[in-house]
Amino acid sequence: MSRISVCVIARDEEAMLPGMLASIEGLADQVVVVDTGSDDSTVAVAQAAGALVVEHVWNDNFAEARNRALQEATGDWVLVLDCDERLAQGSAALIREKIQEGNFDLGMLPLHNAVSMDATAEEILDGRQRQGEPVLLPRLFRRTDDLRWNGAIHESVSAWIASASRTVTTLQAPIFHFGYTPKLLATRNKDARNLRMLEAQAEKEPENLVILTHLAQTYLQASRPLESIRVLEKAWSQMAESQKKEGLRYAIVPLATLRAYVQLRTDEVAKAHETLETAMAWGASHPNLHVLRGVCFETDALKLMGESRLNQLKKAKEHFLAALSQSPEATASEKIPGATSWASTTRLATVHLMLGELSEAVEAFQSALEYKPDHLEAQLGLAEAVLFGGQPETALALLEPHMGAGHPDAWVIAACAADVLSDTDSMQHFTATALSDPSKSFVAPHRRIQMEALRCAASIYAGQPECGPGALGVIGSLMGKHPIDPSNVLVQRPNPEGIQSLVRNVIKSGQGALLDALFTRRAESLIPGIGDMVRAEVEAFGGSVDDDGQPEYLFIGGAGRSGTTLLRAMLHAHSNIHVGPERKLVRTICGLRREWSANEETLNAAGVSQEVLDNATRAFISTLMEATGNGAPRIGEKTPPNLLYMETLGRLYPEAKFIHVIRDGRAVSASLLKQNWMDMRTGKPVDYCTDLRKAAHYWSSMVQEIRSQAASVPGRYLEVRYEKLVTHPREVMMQILAFLEEPWDEAVLSHEKAAVVLPDTESSSDAVSKPVNANAVDRWKSELADEDVAAIEQQVGPTLKELGYAA
Ligand code: A3P
Repeated sequence: MSRISVCVIARDEEAMLPGMLASIEGLADQVVVVDTGSDDSTVAVAQAAGALVVEHVWNDNFAEARNRALQEATGDWVLVLDCDERLAQGSAALIREKIQEGNFDLGMLPLHNAVSMDATAEEILDGRQRQGEPVLLPRLFRRTDDLRWNGAIHESVSAWIASASRTVTTLQAPIFHFGYTPKLLATRNKDARNLRMLEAQAEKEPENLVILTHLAQTYLQASRPLESIRVLEKAWSQMAESQKKEGLRYAIVPLATLRAYVQLRTDEVAKAHETLETAMAWGASHPNLHVLRGVCFETDALKLMGESRLNQLKKAKEHFLAALSQSPEATASEKIPGATSWASTTRLATVHLMLGELSEAVEAFQSALEYKPDHLEAQLGLAEAVLFGGQPETALALLEPHMGAGHPDAWVIAACAADVLSDTDSMQHFTATALSDPSKSFVAPHRRIQMEALRCAASIYAGQPECGPGALGVIGSLMGKHPIDPSNVLVQRPNPEGIQSLVRNVIKSGQGALLDALFTRRAESLIPGIGDMVRAEVEAFGGSVDDDGQPEYLFIGGAGRSGTTLLRAMLHAHSNIHVGPERKLVRTICGLRREWSANEETLNAAGVSQEVLDNATRAFISTLMEATGNGAPRIGEKTPPNLLYMETLGRLYPEAKFIHVIRDGRAVSASLLKQNWMDMRTGKPVDYCTDLRKAAHYWSSMVQEIRSQAASVPGRYLEVRYEKLVTHPREVMMQILAFLEEPWDEAVLSHEKAAVVLPDTESSSDAVSKPVNANAVDRWKSELADEDVAAIEQQVGPTLKELGYAA
């Protein structure tokens, strides 16, 4: 009968050794214990059990210690075990049986990492008390003269296997490993030692991909990600080289798994796809590769909309199903925990959830929970699926324990449930709690996006709408008139239930006026069909939405030479806006209107009320605007002093908007002195074009007067800085168009190409015929003498300071 030697290396293992020896009773014909310097009674315990004990001076080399044991082994077969391992019951008999058959050289045995010292065999085997998945390890060897371990750490026998094409078989003879239980880990400090040994080994064997992968993993565990990535990249390029020469290598699965995992963690999804695709193209097949590929597709889907989102989700589903279709048995390359069971089932369930396949999602979450009842992600996913399935109260009940535990995912789902229940107070409170600790990581990444959407909804209910991702974020920016770059907007047409609950909750929280922003051209351009959807909901609530169909007015003004003509030309290039040359008469009629107020008594006596005067003024201006407005939906009028009458215009036109262009007073003054403007009434040059102090005074009083009237048109007044307009035209025009609630139109950035009428009678026509440029921003510095600058600063210093132009 074949004899078996059990080879063990040990150091200070008096506590663990007896259990190991007990587990091999009846199997071992010889036990060799190589002691590497115990201070405790390890040697005595081993000797008392009849083991052959050999002393060996530890020199940071596992292979040497194991080879020392091999030297003493006399059996036909060698079984290798560590002191913190136990052979499962039944394994010994199976080993004997297989050895009798004798048709192999190397036996791979599944190693299960136990969660706790007192876990039962059954609990470890069925996964309840196991960490991760079992892994197949080379442990049973036909003893030949050349049997040798190589490698100071993560020692292997691959050279021995390769040297004589030895036959490898798998034995279902489990080994339990207790070395990773928290209790044992706490008593050992192997991390630093392992890292030191791995670094030395990698130096010695720079082409050993197994060692490099272990090193990268150890760096990652030690929170040294940059070093981990460096090693991974080195290993990956070597893998690509050796793959060409030698074909598929064993190390590919752990290496590709770790590389893709790190790439996913650093949000380099495209690179993770490439890693996994390449590994599969090289012929690697392992559940890990499918799980990670599925996660890549799932992550892509979060950034997409419509058909492309659907396609990515379907691909994710295929990969999770592929992982689940693989054998749950141990594999030589360690599996990601739950790769063939609960983890992939949970991921699959999440994909079902995102696809709106709610009953499939519930079923899959439940099946993951049957396998692993404490799996948080499945518990949360189940609550979410139940919520979307129309049971918000049940979802809240399921979430309660997790909310107490402070998981942001739980607060996010609870906030969604409160939103569905129109409990906007709780919704705002839950959202605020989810947002309160930004460092907390989410169990499922899609909930961070949900949280952002909830943040927008909560800000709308609170009357301070904010922008964000998704339809709610766009609605927040529409309502708050915030600029958004339409090329970055990902919006799925909101479903009618979503709109229904939004409208209901907005009205309920007293913010109904915000809904107006959803009937604008800007809203329509960003979320096509939104106006009709909201109108239908408002009407269903018994409200009404009316549109008078009148053109909307825009008045632009500021001190002359502030860039008002340029802005009007840029806006005129927009397809919805018409702002022609200066009509001048708007300020004239408004001036008259003001004078008429002084005669109130006389006019009243004649039966002419203030209202009649307003109607007459309005009729005058509207006639002027519409006759020259080319039928545009938004008609603008720019003449610099327009805004001196903002109070009047704001009253006459409650929907009109006002833009005040402001420029550095020193630049305006320098520019004014170059103009030969005439006073229409006297026919003489205007004094602020001939006298520097008067120029500065004109600028300051215009700016101050216009600003003083801003409060009369709340929410309808916008200040634009000339300097920012010409240096950051896209950013400023986006802000202006958001304020005007007009869609973005690229044409505003190339007004010189649009048909803008620039009459000879206007002093800026020449300059405005050119593309936007920043040439005039600092020109005043060379145009004005130092004493001129000092004079201006003395004259209008406070205004310059107030506007941030001077310190
Ligand atoms: P300068 O005289 O300093 O050059 P307004 O039209 O309000 O009177 O403002 C005139 C100012 O607008 C001019 O100031 C001019 O530089 C600026 N401007 C006109 N067209 C411009 C363009 N295409 N790019 C940048 N600035 C322009």
